[in-house]
Amino acid sequence: MNNHFDKQKITFRPLVAGDLKLLFKWLRSSHVHEFYDKDKEITLDNVSRRYLPKIKGEKPTDCFYVLYDNKPVGYIQKYFIKDWEDWSNILDYDDSVESIDLFLGDKSYIGKGFGSLMLSEFLNQVVFVDPKIKLCVIGPEPSNTRAIHVYEKVGFKYIKTVRLDGDTEDTYLMELNKVNSDKK
Ligand SMILES: CC(C)(COP(=O)(O)OP(=O)(O)OC[C@H]1O[C@@H](n2cnc3c(N)ncnc32)[C@H](O)[C@@H]1OP(=O)(O)O)[C@@H](O)C(=O)NCCC(=O)NCCS
Repeated sequence: MNNHFDKQKITFRPLVAGDLKLLFKWLRSSHVHEFYDKDKEITLDNVSRRYLPKIKGEKPTDCFYVLYDNKPVGYIQKYFIKDWEDWSNILDYDDSVESIDLFLGDKSYIGKGFGSLMLSEFLNQVVFVDPKIKLCVIGPEPSNTRAIHVYEKVGFKYIKTVRLDGDTEDTYLMELNKVNSDKK
């Protein structure tokens, strides 16, 4: 089912401290928690402790609200694998490779084609706008078949299954080359 959304109405804006309450609300909702930060205890304090340093630029992750028609409906973050030990201990990617994580916070948007559209727009509007970035990486859990299907639809290809340091679940590693990203 694809779709009645106007991609020109999808925008991304950096997260600010005032967004943390809504982020907390989304992270603790069951449809998100099932697949995102599921090993974390979701309290407002914890969410602030983990996301505020990223918002302030003290931790090397860029956080964005996904807006539809100026209304926040989801979250995406991007970062370099080489900057995070749990990833870089097992994966050797340089600074031409960015990784992303995402979810739709507003449940009413799920399963209507919005997730695929917001991901391809984020790649086009944000990730691959930087000429340095040649490859994007994403790592759903193997059991998250909906997310895997969406990432395949957008053009990501399965590489291998890995286990990051400290994780209790495997990561189903997928890659998208910049040269292939505009063919979807
Ligand atoms: C993953 C997510 C961003 C996808 O967004 P979405 O708007 O729900 O996805 P879309 O509607 O664009 O596409 C869903 C696709 O998956 C398919 N699908 C739905 N449930 C599925 C399942 N259990 N297994 C496989 N495919 C499934 C749909 O048929 C559709 O494919 P189609 O367009 O070929 O018919 C969103 O569902 C989400 O935020 N989920 C909760 C958090 C999460 O999983 N985040 C990702 C962490 S890696």
